[in-house]
Amino acid sequence: MPLRKTSLIAMLAALYFAPGLLFLYVARGVSAEVPSSAVMTSPGEPGEPFHVTGTVYGPDGVTPAARMTVYAFHTDAEGLYSETNDNTNPRLKATIRTDAQGRYELRTIRPAPYPGGGIPAHIHYRISGSDFPDQGFELHFEGDPQLSARMKERSAKRGGFGSIRPLERGADGVWRCVFDIKLRR
Ligand SMILES: [Fe+2]
Repeated sequence: MPLRKTSLIAMLAALYFAPGLLFLYVARGVSAEVPSSAVMTSPGEPGEPFHVTGTVYGPDGVTPAARMTVYAFHTDAEGLYSETNDNTNPRLKATIRTDAQGRYELRTIRPAPYPGGGIPAHIHYRISGSDFPDQGFELHFEGDPQLSARMKERSAKRGGFGSIRPLERGADGVWRCVFDIKLRR
């Protein structure tokens, strides 16, 4: 009965591999659904509306880093991460994934500096994916009186990839800023 034997082997093989194939199919589907854009606030969140767009590049600063996971978080209009000011579980956060051109977009409110002062307002980024090591970045805003001379110098050295970016308020009342990121190896 060679035919039956073959059929049995094929059936057993299908049963053996099916869960793995199903998992791969689902995992690919889920990962494809992570958008490159997120709204970080609920309607009614106090603060001035603020949109950040940008592109994540590889270490050469030219090649877009596609499908990188970007976790961003920041303080609210009071300078707090949450009611208990816990930055490990911030209230205003988003996880997105850069698109095929490395682009991302965050729609949120303009963060305020910490209540104690001394540290400029900022947005934290954690970026992971591909074969890059996980890495962190901070976005600061030009004109912030709490920026130190050292921070300005460090940002200027990185040119278009510096952490201090200009921002502009549109006629619609929305602050806009472009923050491009160059990944490290
Ligand atoms: Fe912070």
